[in-house]
Amino acid sequence: MEQYIIKGGNPLVGEVEIGGAKNAALGILAAAIMTDDTVRIDNLPDVQDVNVLLEAISKIGAKVDRISRTSALINGSNIGQVSVDYEYIKKIRASYYLLGALLGKYKKAEVPLPGGCNIGSRPIDLHLKGFKALGATTRIANGSIIAEAAQLRGNHIYLDTVSVGATINIMMAASMAEGRTVIENAAKEPHVVDVANFLNSMGANIKGAGTDVIRIRGVERLHATEYSIIPDQIEAGTFMFAAAATRGDVIVKNVIPKHLEATSVKLMEIGCQVEEFDDVVRVVATGRLNNTNVKTLPYPGYPTDMQPQIGVALALANGTSLVTESIFENRFKYVDELVRMGANIKVEGNTAVIYGCEKLTGARVSAPDLRAGAALVIAGLAAEGITIVDDIVYIQRGYECFEEKLRGLGAEIERVSSEKEIQKFKLRVG
Ligand code: UD1
Repeated sequence: MEQYIIKGGNPLVGEVEIGGAKNAALGILAAAIMTDDTVRIDNLPDVQDVNVLLEAISKIGAKVDRISRTSALINGSNIGQVSVDYEYIKKIRASYYLLGALLGKYKKAEVPLPGGCNIGSRPIDLHLKGFKALGATTRIANGSIIAEAAQLRGNHIYLDTVSVGATINIMMAASMAEGRTVIENAAKEPHVVDVANFLNSMGANIKGAGTDVIRIRGVERLHATEYSIIPDQIEAGTFMFAAAATRGDVIVKNVIPKHLEATSVKLMEIGCQVEEFDDVVRVVATGRLNNTNVKTLPYPGYPTDMQPQIGVALALANGTSLVTESIFENRFKYVDELVRMGANIKVEGNTAVIYGCEKLTGARVSAPDLRAGAALVIAGLAAEGITIVDDIVYIQRGYECFEEKLRGLGAEIERVSSEKEIQKFKLRVG
């Protein structure tokens, strides 16, 4: 089992390049099989979830040609089966996007019930409601969801909870339904817009993505395109908080600063200097951070995927902060680990009360999920002494070259898999 070993205490300083957005890539890769033409996708993040989805689509017959680490050609003309039977696919939440894509194109899809990060109960009832509204029937058999329709017909769909996944899934199926679909109370996240732009570049007719009403006019076929995925706002935000927690000075490149507004505002509130340029942000933290309150909300609110990272920064701030999680109920699992590093945090319901402390000290901790894992790495970088983070498979699902990028900023971090390597690292860092 691989682990990260970290010697904390170095302020992160330098420049880091952000990759393509994982959550946009997952939607876009699924949508890419909706045409029989070849699609080229650039700025793909080289992360586990993306690689698993690429394998899954090739297993059902799509031709996947990874022409470089960040680009792929996909051709979905030879898809022989609409049933995805690939063990790993269960492990990624976004396997559900194959439902919308296959249902839209072939009017039938069979996909194992999704897994993904254990951050609370993650139902997909809204996705299924959407498919039903488009005329499909859905049922569960042998651990898979089967959705099928003689014909998909556009409809008026109101989502009673804002859901990124349901919005994207319904958008995909409706793109190839007959007539007009309106999705109300749609999610507005940048990756919803990116998937809509991608589908439009293949000939779909989607208007209003990025607002809470999306209008889709179904088309009969989609065609070839070349598309570059937007930068990952969560990867960028993670490095911004790493700069803050280590009192560093980091230039984060290849970002869309507008997508980072909620993060930037909070960083400024806690005393960091944040400078924005066209596709770059710079975060400078000099003294001790200040306390603040934050509540996670759908975009443009503060992202739930950035909650553990701000939690770590606030654990080191001056004063008491309240962090309220309003999207997923199980996203404070990193707190127990942080407490082992000396943090003073109490979780009451969906709020963490964080009493800031002067310093954290290194400990052996375990990554409970993707973003919480990244946050524990930040904690290790800011802490005094050595931290070992177990279960880093979670982190690899969503961060490309994480330790290389951190080392580029002066971090002492190594990926290890044996006691011998741990000892070697300890000897080297002294
Ligand atoms: C996506 C992101 C995830 C992010 C989340 C919220 C991907 C692959 N994952 O997850 O990183 O944390 O958005 O920004 O893009 N819900 C229902 N019924 C449904 C669907 C959702 O009740 O059918 C609820 C969920 O339990 C949750 C809320 O709606 O409380 C938002 O979930 P949703 O936006 O759908 O998250 P995901 O698409 O799973």
